[in-house]
Amino acid sequence: MVSGMSTPEMTAGLHLIGEQATRAAAKAKVQAAKSISIEDVSVSYALERSARRCVLENISLEIEEGEFVVLLGETGCGKSTLLRMLLGQERPTAGQISVAGSRVERVDARSGYVPQRYSLFPDRSVLDNLMMGPLTSKFHILGRLRPSYWEARRAVKAEAFRQITHMGLQASDAGKYPYQLSGGMQQRVAIAQALMMKNRVLLMDEAFSALDPSTRSSLQRLLRSVWSETRPTVVFVTHNTAEALFLGTRLIVLARESKDDACGSRVTLDMKLAEGGMTLRTHGQEFLDLVEHVEAVSCGQRLTAPGERRTASDAWGEELGRVEPVRVSPEDGVRQ
Ligand SMILES: Nc1ncnc2c1ncn2[C@@H]1O[C@H](COP(=O)(O)OP(=O)(O)OP(=O)(O)O)[C@@H](O)[C@H]1O
Ligand SMILES: [Mg+2]
Repeated sequence: MVSGMSTPEMTAGLHLIGEQATRAAAKAKVQAAKSISIEDVSVSYALERSARRCVLENISLEIEEGEFVVLLGETGCGKSTLLRMLLGQERPTAGQISVAGSRVERVDARSGYVPQRYSLFPDRSVLDNLMMGPLTSKFHILGRLRPSYWEARRAVKAEAFRQITHMGLQASDAGKYPYQLSGGMQQRVAIAQALMMKNRVLLMDEAFSALDPSTRSSLQRLLRSVWSETRPTVVFVTHNTAEALFLGTRLIVLARESKDDACGSRVTLDMKLAEGGMTLRTHGQEFLDLVEHVEAVSCGQRLTAPGERRTASDAWGEELGRVEPVRVSPEDGVRQ
């Protein structure tokens, strides 16, 4: 017993500790439903003579489990930087990031990552590239002497072949090396590599940007169908507004208000999108208006508060001083 504390006081104290634990557990549960939580994150890098360049400034976002977030913005606005922070490759200068309720403090194996450039191991076959992640995460060198390793290896190999065909490649491609594959095939393998890890969070950095239009659109359809099957949380960086509107369930634009080094990118647009994907064919003029608006916001021509949306014709009118911007709630999303 703690000296100086009577039994009723102790009971009250224990009750309080119990309440705190319950509140902490409830908070962790709510945060887990929030797949990714970005709290007031700023990132800056040192320049010469003790000056700093601010890349991201006070970014706060809550991303729900199963959302397909597309991140747009001009080159250099900090999209890859934000993705590296989510992955834990780098730490923010200020603020914090959590995935599934716990802080990201080092490279986070809970998130799959498809980087901006092809990322396959050049000296390994397609099959080895796919099998390496799951096996090394489960077995250390000595663990490979155990019989359970060979059992797990068989299951991982079967899954690798399933992914190969799922990605529209042939079983005969399994033995090929990256230099024997086209860019589009390498990118399919890179996506399969990330999917092999069965992560609930998938971070993709301009994964389709180097592909020709038809390969790109077939991979877009493939990614959407993979996402609809298992509903991971996806953060997908792209420069292509049409791709963003086709893939995403939520669109986030980053832009800087000025070219000043002290001024980093902020979230200038955050809106929900129609879940079935928007295309020119399905949404006609509304799609064109939205593309024009998003592109204006991305290049900082017209900064818009979250949830605020204007059509191209409104924007014209506003420039002539005639029309007020239309404000919509992010929940309204894009009209069907
Ligand atoms: N380690 C670093 N040290 C210094 N500056 C950096 C570092 N990493 C990124 N930057 C700077 O941060 C800014 C944002 O870079 P980032 O790669 O995130 O842009 P991006 O939006 O992904 O651009 P892109 O669309 O061209 O890929 C750039 O000005 C870049 O030079
Ligand atoms: Mg980038």
